[in-house]
Amino acid sequence: MKFSTIILVTLVRLAVAIPTYDSLIGLSEREINEFVARNGVAPIPNPPGPLPAHQDGLKLVNDPAHPFRTQQPNELRGPCPALNTLANHGYLPRSGVARPDQIVTAVMEGLNLGNDFAKFLVYQAFLMNGNPLTNLMSIGMKTPLTGQDPPKPALVGGLSQHGTFEGDTSMSRVDAFFGDPAAFNQTRFNDLLAFATKYGANGSYDVNAASELRYERLQDSIATNPQLVFTSPRILSAYSEAVFPTVYFVDGRLNNGQLSKDAATSFFANQRMPQDFHRQPTPVSFDVIEPLTGRLFKDHPFVPGVNQGVNNYVEMPNTPAVSDFCGIYEDIALRVIPGQYPKPTGALKDAIKKNLGFLYGAVSFQHNCTQVFPYGK
Ligand code: HEM
Repeated sequence: MKFSTIILVTLVRLAVAIPTYDSLIGLSEREINEFVARNGVAPIPNPPGPLPAHQDGLKLVNDPAHPFRTQQPNELRGPCPALNTLANHGYLPRSGVARPDQIVTAVMEGLNLGNDFAKFLVYQAFLMNGNPLTNLMSIGMKTPLTGQDPPKPALVGGLSQHGTFEGDTSMSRVDAFFGDPAAFNQTRFNDLLAFATKYGANGSYDVNAASELRYERLQDSIATNPQLVFTSPRILSAYSEAVFPTVYFVDGRLNNGQLSKDAATSFFANQRMPQDFHRQPTPVSFDVIEPLTGRLFKDHPFVPGVNQGVNNYVEMPNTPAVSDFCGIYEDIALRVIPGQYPKPTGALKDAIKKNLGFLYGAVSFQHNCTQVFPYGK
């Protein structure tokens, strides 16, 4: 192929991958509405269903169809070791920009997340960090590749956006007050390994290590981060993420809740599945994860709160507790999302409502929460 032909093909591919939304940059809300009226919004596919029963079992997932390739300079990675790894293996677009339904499929296929659990994580993240008009989200920092932003105060900041899904007291990242909260931090990760040595069975990162580390991370941030925020919805993700590695990063053939230091290093530091890695033998959902997070909370109870200066943790007992699942769902739907989209109209409103419906669909599966409608039914 001639060089000019290669450029042309690349440009055509780019034009397909980044639809006309890119040219919307800098337009006002009225102009966006006109654009939407002319072009419509990106279609929003329904969330994928569960993997078919004959395809939801133990499986080699670090396979030849999903070769590891490290991130290229123009590709985005962010605060989640799982999604970074899935992008490095091509389960997610290697660009790091994806539709929510693609992310649901990727975590089901690559790590065997239960369908409802995958949807719960993905749609809350998408509502906080994605672009409802283009149906795209960055798994890393903010990027023009997700198209023109809806009017502020919408953020469309990608998963690295601090103060949304991303928050304080992470295990392998620093708090935003100290630096880039999405970047892997070796010193922090060394603490995780040290806790595995001290508390885990056979020196592994297990639920005991997770419990002590989660507690220590909060105490450390209380003592050092004057701007610590540890309230809904961050508290739930912090507790869930502490136990995820003891489940999803453990080879499904072992499935003993004990993550070896080598496997932990592979996922967290190298963003790569261990050689010959097999996913969980059955889809893993709320029913497995919630008892584990409950155990962590029972070991070291806490009240949500914020620091007003170092070592001055002000408790906020009237905000939802980590055990109050429906309260956290309502907090996301009634406070967090309307905070970014106070008065959406037209196609934007429709898209947000649709995604809120998907979120509730995931929430309602194993929890008896009442659906809430911040923008009417
Ligand atoms: C399904 C969609 C998922 C989304 C949207 C998502 C998003 C995120 C985000 C935004 C963070 C940053 C939170 C923070 O530390 O401030 C994070 C962290 C994390 N995620 Fe995910 N995640 C997903 C699935 C998973 C899965 C399946 C695992 C399985 C192991 C996982 C493991 C983790 C871990 C261990 C962290 C904590 C990193 C740390 O504290 O240093 N995530 N995720």
